[in-house]
Amino acid sequence: MKSNIISKSRALMQRQTQKNGAPAWGLTELAAVMGKKLARQYHANGHLVVAALYLAHVVFHTKRHSYEMENHPRLSAALADRYLRKWKVADNERIIIVDAIRTHHDRAKPHSRVSEIMRNAEGYKFLTIEGCFIFLHALGSRGISWEKSVEYCIEKMNQKYALLTLPACKQETKKNMAGLVQIYRKII
Ligand SMILES: [Fe+2]
Repeated sequence: MKSNIISKSRALMQRQTQKNGAPAWGLTELAAVMGKKLARQYHANGHLVVAALYLAHVVFHTKRHSYEMENHPRLSAALADRYLRKWKVADNERIIIVDAIRTHHDRAKPHSRVSEIMRNAEGYKFLTIEGCFIFLHALGSRGISWEKSVEYCIEKMNQKYALLTLPACKQETKKNMAGLVQIYRKII
């Protein structure tokens, strides 16, 4: 049943990504891999963390500041809730997943360990060299200029860093950020 939540969430996110044209699939997978790793490391329920990571962007849009993009935590939480009920996921697990999705951009203290691990794993999308390159490639293929793409990437990097709560993640990604800034200085 539990691994079922992951495969069903992943399949739903794949369909929604095709429909919405964003976020880049590589970023979703990067966050899921990090979620699995951090959940093991911090003794959180990995199934719930990974399911929340797949479902956090089931409602999304390519356009910046669009209604869907601005409100995606709340909208994705509502859609995820509908599917988790349909899949007959236990109420206590559904509530934790939906809360993690709804609050994944909040600066307030996470309500659960699952939520905390999920939020930190999400950060790696924009706080790793691999993630930033995936993002830049996606923006380029949407016709966004190189300068604007780099600017957007730096903005996401700072936004995600501010949401990290685990000291080890902050330490690791701070080094990545320094490396990324050096790369950007050379190429812009
Ligand atoms: Fe998000």
